[in-house]
Amino acid sequence: MRIALGSDHAGFDLKSLLVATLLERGHDVLDLGTDSDTVSVDYPDFGAAVGRSVVSGESDLGVAICGTGIGMSIAANKVPGVRAAVVHDVSSARLAREHNHANVLCMGARLIGTVTAVDALDAWLTSPLGEGRHLRRIEKIAVLDEQAQL
Ligand code: RB5
Repeated sequence: MRIALGSDHAGFDLKSLLVATLLERGHDVLDLGTDSDTVSVDYPDFGAAVGRSVVSGESDLGVAICGTGIGMSIAANKVPGVRAAVVHDVSSARLAREHNHANVLCMGARLIGTVTAVDALDAWLTSPLGEGRHLRRIEKIAVLDEQAQL
C-alpha cells in the first residue's frame, strides 16, 4: 500500500517516526514534507498535499500530522473526496476506519505519545471498512462533496 505523509514543523518528528514505522511494515511511503522541525511552515499546504495525493490515486491513504491534528484535518477535508479524521488513541483510529472510512489519518504531535500514535496508525491500517449503515452514510458524505463543487 502506498501512503502519503505530510506534516508541519510541529509534526515533523512524529511524521519521521511514522515514515520509518510504515517502511518497516513494508509499505510504500510518499513523504510530502515538511523536512524540518525548526522552520515554521503552514499546515494547510501539507494537509492539502496529502489529501490531493489520496484523491488523485497517487496514494492509497494519507497521514497528516500537526501540533493538534485539527488544522491538518480541516485543511485536508477541503479536498473533495477526503475523509480526514483526527484520532487520539487506538479506539478512535479503529472507529475512524470502520465507521467513517477515513482515508486520511490526522494526529496531534503535541497531544499524543509516540507509542499511542504508532498503535493508532496500526489500528487504522488494519481495521476493516464498515459496511451496511456505515456505507450508506459514507455515500451521503460523497453527495455532500459533489454538492460543494456545484
Ligand atoms: C503550529 O504552531 C500549530 O498551530 C499547528 O501545528 C497545528 O496545531 C494547527 O492546527
